[in-house]
Amino acid sequence: MIKFLDLEKVNNRFRAEIDERIKSILDKGWYLQGKWDKTFEEHFAKYCGVKHCIGCANGLDALNLIIKGYGFGTGDEIIVPANTYIASILAISENGCTPVLVEPDINTYNINPKLIEEKITSRTRAIMVVHLYGQAVKMEKIWELAKKYNLKIIEDSAQAHGAVYTPLCPSGTSPARGADAHRYYATYVKEFARKMRSEMTLQEVKLWQQIRNEQLGVKFRRQVAIDNKYIADFACLEKRLIIEVDGSQHVNNEADKIRTEYLEKENFRIIRLWNNDIDKNISGCIEYIKQELSICPPCGENGAERHKELLTQSAPLAGEVARSAKGGNRVGNLGDASGFSFYPGKNLGCMGDGGCVTTNDDELAAKIRALANYGSDRKYHHIYKGINSRLDEIQAAILDAKLPYLDKDNARRREIADYYCENIKNPKIITPLRPTDTSPARGADAHVWHIFPIRCEERDRLQKYLEENGIQTNIHYPTPPHKQGAYKEWENQSYPISEEIHRTELSLPISPVLTDEEVEMVVKVVNEWV
Ligand SMILES: Cc1ncc(COP(=O)(O)O)c(C=O)c1O
Repeated sequence: MIKFLDLEKVNNRFRAEIDERIKSILDKGWYLQGKWDKTFEEHFAKYCGVKHCIGCANGLDALNLIIKGYGFGTGDEIIVPANTYIASILAISENGCTPVLVEPDINTYNINPKLIEEKITSRTRAIMVVHLYGQAVKMEKIWELAKKYNLKIIEDSAQAHGAVYTPLCPSGTSPARGADAHRYYATYVKEFARKMRSEMTLQEVKLWQQIRNEQLGVKFRRQVAIDNKYIADFACLEKRLIIEVDGSQHVNNEADKIRTEYLEKENFRIIRLWNNDIDKNISGCIEYIKQELSICPPCGENGAERHKELLTQSAPLAGEVARSAKGGNRVGNLGDASGFSFYPGKNLGCMGDGGCVTTNDDELAAKIRALANYGSDRKYHHIYKGINSRLDEIQAAILDAKLPYLDKDNARRREIADYYCENIKNPKIITPLRPTDTSPARGADAHVWHIFPIRCEERDRLQKYLEENGIQTNIHYPTPPHKQGAYKEWENQSYPISEEIHRTELSLPISPVLTDEEVEMVVKVVNEWV
């Protein structure tokens, strides 16, 4: 039998280290809010690229604590996708707020950003995005709406540990970007350009002024996205010339080596200018740039066409998000605050319940830390009506042992998803679109494939057939939240796209410990179904 998820096998890979850590905790006799909690929080914050990570008891509490932390309550509305695991919605209603459901996009299964604005009222306080099945939500429109209506963005990242979202580079010419991207561009680029400018080093400012003053006969731009992959400090796309400032930093950096390889393969030439040279010999630097410019672009006869294409494709990447990670940010760092679950079956799972909140907001972080500990900022001093929701030492130590392997596990999940997408040919089955199928700008790492969802009109018959042929599957989820007994008040509401997903979805096994033979077997059996 190919198990849907073989947790024993997943965790046995870390057995020795986990045994050792648990033993040390037992030896020491310290079970809560100790060394491991602190260590894991620091490591996970760093992994997500955020300032704060606050461990808590589970994913539902993480969302609950965020909503409490913002002080949202009765009368406040929070927008949330109609097809999500019910916990996202429970966290909202638990606080007395009203969940306002929005239909998903059938291609991504995530909230459809185009349908959000019509649901915003004067009572709306936040948009909760759920990176369902492991795929990061398309964020541009959501950032725009949050800004326009002064709303908080709460991420439910319970299913997407490690997914990287790369914002689109709006230009209006690329079909993948479209009109939404244009609005985003208009709203944000100017603002972030100003921010980037204020972040420029003295040498960058000096060089930029000189480049602009000189009659170079070509157009240079700052912070240019190259092929939607990398940001160059300065670039002349027409001549395929990139200037990097503070060359020593670029030369010694591993990420920059990979970038250089890519750029050189794509026929870009890179000039590296040392800060010292810009300080002491700016005219020499300009001379150097001029010399390089006098060399014809090295891409031969098709140069003009290729350059035109590049010029329309590349625009400054908007947002500090993009700038901070040179191309993308992980989930947990795409909104104002994010909730994670470490339920055992998650991409990063513990051996019981666990969760955390990530945020860059110092004030919110301090409040959530207190709220999760009986509302107390120090022992026996209670400033809020808090709850008890803590990540215990054993779970934190386990998570910390597993975290270094998360990216590798996610890469294996992507490999399996690619194999499924390319080889499942049964016409009765709809395989999911990969991020690269729908929008190349976002890249494959926008999906960490917590779930591999297929759709099938005869889902139940297919599930039975797979079970009979040794393949365990699951359904995520059989009943949409608005049809659950817990929300009787919604029973007459209709969300046809959500309902369609819940009626037809079937999850195939996908886990980092599946062997190639098992994956091939799944495909074979699925393809043989009639
Ligand atoms: C999307 C989503 N949100 C929230 C949760 C809640 O997490 P937990 O089970 O840790 O409370 C889950 C858990 O399955 C989930 O899938």
